Amino acid sequence: MKNNEEILDLFENYLAQIQLPEEPQRLYKPILYSMSGGGKRIRPSLLMLVCDAYGGSLQDALPVAAAVEMFHNFTLLHDDIMDNATVRRGKPSVYASWGDNVAILSGDAMMIYSYRMLHQAPPAKLHRIMDIFTTMALQVCEGQQYDMDFESLQKVSVVEYMNMIELKTSVLLAGSAMIGAVLGDASEEDCRRIYRYALELGLAFQQQDDLLDSYGTQEELGKRIGGDILEGKKTCLMLNAMSRATDVDREILRTAHLNESLSDAQKIACVKEVYDRYDIPHLINQQISTRFDRALSILDTLELASERTEHLRTFAQNLMGRKK
Ligand code: IPE
Ligand code: IPE
Ligand code: MG
Ligand code: MG
Ligand code: MG
Repeated sequence: MKNNEEILDLFENYLAQIQLPEEPQRLYKPILYSMSGGGKRIRPSLLMLVCDAYGGSLQDALPVAAAVEMFHNFTLLHDDIMDNATVRRGKPSVYASWGDNVAILSGDAMMIYSYRMLHQAPPAKLHRIMDIFTTMALQVCEGQQYDMDFESLQKVSVVEYMNMIELKTSVLLAGSAMIGAVLGDASEEDCRRIYRYALELGLAFQQQDDLLDSYGTQEELGKRIGGDILEGKKTCLMLNAMSRATDVDREILRTAHLNESLSDAQKIACVKEVYDRYDIPHLINQQISTRFDRALSILDTLELASERTEHLRTFAQNLMGRKK
């Protein structure tokens, strides 16, 4: 069995030998820029770790893992347009470098590439894998739409938020993990358990993403800190603060980002001041660690000897302490 670093190495070497056409440059350059831009590769890693845990072939898993990573990077090209995010992985985002049209079209091409790579899955499993993949891909679109819809809603419940992040973020981790389980010939029950494990991880991961967006550092995270506040995103920080705040504080949370007399830095500072007053970062950290524990406990229920789940445990633990 390979550990997380060995899996990542294998994956990076596989990606590095994929050739893209040279022309038109403004279609393919942004794809390379995105795919080699320093992503953490958590989805393909998870797919391959699960496949390996069940004794599946990593050679079979590689193109499928690449498909998942290509799809993820595609979503980021479009997401940065939707979120007005000009910095990603410490560099200008694709739309900030090349413009919206390029980011849209290169993103489209990436999605098509991901389906092409998916077709290299073992024929006997192709139908099943395609089904998992397309389901999750559509769910990501649904989640992204809810995410944007919520910006202009006054009130969003925690249940609605959890559903939204499950769709926009978790299902891609869960689907990747499940594809790994299918490639490793896991039982139906274990495919479902692996899905749940990664779904919990994905929820924790997005809550961390929300937290880091306000409380991380740009050097580590590679994104502009406070972007969610400026966009009026209904993050878990915002919802938890809203439900605890006095009327006066709630009004600040609701309107700061729209206040034209404030600079961006002031908008971010005054929202974070309210978050701090209600100890929101601490609260969110507790929720995150509960979810991680839940994910880890699912690993104990798998039809696998505990030594075979060791790397999946490490994978979750590595995510838990992330700063980027
Ligand atoms: C960013 O995902 C989008 C979210 C779902 C939060 P990652 O944080 O995995 O992005 P990279 O690929 O490592 O940059
Ligand atoms: C991204 O959520 C989810 C998808 C790209 C599908 P965010 O918008 O929070 O991700 P970041 O913070 O830009 O990476
Ligand atoms: Mg977004
Ligand atoms: Mg975004
Ligand atoms: Mg975010």
